Amino acid sequence: MGELPDLKAGKDLVIEEFSRIAEELLERERETPEELREKIEGRKWRFYRYGYKAGRILDLGCGGGLDLLALHEITGGKAELYGVDMTDKVLELAEERFGRLGVEGVHLLKGDISSLPFPDGSFDMVTVAWVLHHVDGEELDRILDEVRRVLRPGGIFLMLEPCSLPFTEGQWLWMELMRLQSDIELLAGRDFPRIHLTPQFIKEYLSSKGLKLEALDVLTPYVGGFPMKAEFFEEELRKIREELSKLPTELRGHFQKKLDFTLRKVGMIGVEKGSTLIAKASLPGAAAEGGER
Ligand SMILES: C[S@@+](CC[C@H](N)C(=O)[O-])C[C@H]1O[C@@H](n2cnc3c(N)ncnc32)[C@H](O)[C@@H]1O
Repeated sequence: MGELPDLKAGKDLVIEEFSRIAEELLERERETPEELREKIEGRKWRFYRYGYKAGRILDLGCGGGLDLLALHEITGGKAELYGVDMTDKVLELAEERFGRLGVEGVHLLKGDISSLPFPDGSFDMVTVAWVLHHVDGEELDRILDEVRRVLRPGGIFLMLEPCSLPFTEGQWLWMELMRLQSDIELLAGRDFPRIHLTPQFIKEYLSSKGLKLEALDVLTPYVGGFPMKAEFFEEELRKIREELSKLPTELRGHFQKKLDFTLRKVGMIGVEKGSTLIAKASLPGAAAEGGER
C-alpha cells in the first residue's frame, strides 16, 4: 500500500475553506443587490421567531455579516453590533457588504471565538449560526464558557447549527455520504472539522454550562437550502471524488465501491440534507436592559 499523505486538520482547513468561499463572492460571483437583499431577508425569521435584544449583540463566527445586517435592520440600527471571526477574507466580505449597503458602526473583530476580547457581562445577546459544528469538543467547551462569561444576567444565547438527526431515508443517505466523505478525506490527508450535534446533547450541554434552556427546535428541512440543489450535490460529489483520487489504489477501489453503492441508493431514493437545530438559552439573573422583542 502507498504512503499516506500528511494530515491537514483543524482551523487551518476551516480558514482555507471559508476564505475560498468569501473570495468567490468578492471576486467572481458577487451577488446582485437583489440576491444580497434576499440573503438578508432570509436571516430575519430566526430573530423574529426566537426574539432578540435591542442592546449589545455579539455574532460569533459572523462570516460575511448576513446576520449582523439582518439584526441591524430589525433593530432599526439601534443595537450595538459586534461580529468576531478568525478568517480575514470573510471579514473583508462583511466590510464590503456593509459598505455596499451604507451600513456603518458595526464592529468587526478578527479573533478566535474560544477566547473573546470582551469583559465579563458585556452582551445582552450572543448569537451563532453554522459555526459550532466546525470546532472540536474541547473548543466547543471553551466557546460555551466564553458565551456564559460575556453574557449579562438575563442575556440570551441563540444558536443555529445543522443537526445530524436524520428523519427520512433521503437524510440517512446524506449522512451516509458525509460519513464516507469524512473517511475518504481522512485517508487522503484532510480532516475537515465536523462535529455532529443532536438535540438531547445540546439540551444537556447548555444546562451544564449554567444556561437555562428557553427553546429547542429541530427544523426539517435543513434551512440552508432545501430541496437540495442538484449543483450543490454535484459539488459535494466532486469533492469526494477529488479526495478519492488521492488515495492509494487499493483504498481507492474499496471506497469507490462504497460510493457507487451509496449513489445507486441515492439514484433510487434521492438525497436530502439533514435538519437544523435551534436552541435558545438565557443566563439566569436580572433581565437585561433594553428588554426582549
Ligand atoms: C459556515 S460559516 C458561517 C458564517 C456566518 N455565521 C453565517 O451564518 O453566514 C462559519 C464561520 O465560522 C468561522 N469560525 C469557525 N471557527 C471559528 C473560531 N474558532 N473562531 C472564529 N471564527 C470561527 C469561520 O471562519 C467561518 O467564517
